[in-house]
Amino acid sequence: MLVIGGTSSRNLAQDLAQELGTKFIQANVVRFPDGECYVRIEEEELDDEVIIVQNTHPDTSLVEMLLLQDAAAGMGARKITTVVPYFGYARQDERFKTGEALSAKVMIRALELNSKHLVTIDVHKPIILDWFRGQTNDVHAAPCVGRFFDGHGIDLVLAPDEGAMQRASEVARVIGADVDHLEKTRLSGEVVRMAPKNVDAKDKHALIVDDIISTGGTIEAAANQLKILGAKSVIAVCTHGLFTKNALDRLRKCCNAVYSTNTIENEVSVISVAPQIARVLRGQI
Ligand code: R5P
Repeated sequence: MLVIGGTSSRNLAQDLAQELGTKFIQANVVRFPDGECYVRIEEEELDDEVIIVQNTHPDTSLVEMLLLQDAAAGMGARKITTVVPYFGYARQDERFKTGEALSAKVMIRALELNSKHLVTIDVHKPIILDWFRGQTNDVHAAPCVGRFFDGHGIDLVLAPDEGAMQRASEVARVIGADVDHLEKTRLSGEVVRMAPKNVDAKDKHALIVDDIISTGGTIEAAANQLKILGAKSVIAVCTHGLFTKNALDRLRKCCNAVYSTNTIENEVSVISVAPQIARVLRGQI
């Protein structure tokens, strides 16, 4: 078994190979002048079992993943495990309005062409994995996030809304901190409001945990609410740090620190989810 890394996930793929004690290969990926993608796995031969690690966001990364799968299949790999650290299009999991595409299903079905095992990390709604006709696992980043913050004086872990409580609770359990949630209402793509809620945050070192930070609107509203409630410090952490526009700069003004896992590699992606993916792949979870 070996691990092949795509361009979106070099560090994570390398970490995963190390965790599994297996060989790591960085695929050769280049772009033609017209923008099309060219991939080549530069090995004499491939093992029967390979793990490909590559995001499906943005669209160029999805195409790269499909080509990597085909390159591995073309070299005779028969058991291709597709690890998608950040699964793009997961939020369009319904036809919310007539005439819309069911994007999440389209992406899942595309990944099925050369793979019988799909692994995601904190996918927005795990139910979408039911569209994959093969084995699936959604790996939780929370144990890795909890271990990262263990011993750092966090007293209170917060979810931005009740729906995100399970993730926050998993992190809080590892740290040994209290857990609660705020009451988020999204007013528009970028504007989020936190309803006043009686959370015991006075003089606490608070950690806000979310799956995605995109515009930063959710975390900004949560951090401001926690300050009103008297929190001594506020740190934000997410699994997938998209940080669109100037989200990181915006968040640095209202949070003491911002971190993400390495499902999307960026300047704050210091928490590796490789140990948890390895546990799932070894069948330990
Ligand atoms: C929403 O359901 C997600 O869990 C995140 O809270 C959301 O995607 C964050 O987006 P933003 O950073 O733009 O507020």
